[in-house]
Amino acid sequence: MAQQEFALDPPQHADTVPKWLDTGACVLRGLAIARAVEMIADIRRIARGAPFRRMPTPGGGVMSVAMTCCGAAGWCSDSHGYRYVARDPRTDRPWPPLPDTWRDLATRAATLAGYEGFVPDTCLINGYRPGARMGLHQDRDERLDAPVVSLSFGLPAVFRWGGPRRTDPLRRIPLLHGDVVVWGGPSRLVFHGIAPLRPGAHPVTGPCRYNLTFRRVWQGDE
Ligand code: SIN
Ligand code: FE2
Repeated sequence: MAQQEFALDPPQHADTVPKWLDTGACVLRGLAIARAVEMIADIRRIARGAPFRRMPTPGGGVMSVAMTCCGAAGWCSDSHGYRYVARDPRTDRPWPPLPDTWRDLATRAATLAGYEGFVPDTCLINGYRPGARMGLHQDRDERLDAPVVSLSFGLPAVFRWGGPRRTDPLRRIPLLHGDVVVWGGPSRLVFHGIAPLRPGAHPVTGPCRYNLTFRRVWQGDE
């Protein structure tokens, strides 16, 4: 059917051997699948304390993706720009804690990708509904000497993966329920984004995709 470019079926097994996109960047297909149901319940619990919100952009628009965060730092966008803050500006409370089980999975994914000792201090949680997208960007507001670990749950998406310049050619990488992407080192500042989410319903998340990105924002042990 025209609506789906690729199967909705989750992978049958979890890859522990990376598929390399570029030096320093890889996909670990299905690595998070065994934890999906538990992590989606965690997302819903976290969102009760720090609700999903569509943030304003410095350019005067509103992001189509709804976001929340957990951990020591949370990413915020507003008319002044982008930054990490220790408290949720909507509630004036600290962000909900980053679950230990999440941290351990991110550390394991980073290790499989060759980044030993990655300990994230934040997780950005993105909620995509059909039509939501993320424009081409670099992740550059956090520490650049640590990788980004990204987990996808729910509806499939097309990850646009470019190069160090905005004008570099883009590849289209399907990301399915349970897939993990890790990028760091020479690929840390590669431009990337998400194509508009196609309509659909996923057995676990319904008409929604969740993306979790784990990052190291601040130095030292929190
Ligand atoms: C991001 O680029 O920060 C999120 C990507 C995604 O939703 O997979
Ligand atoms: Fe990003």
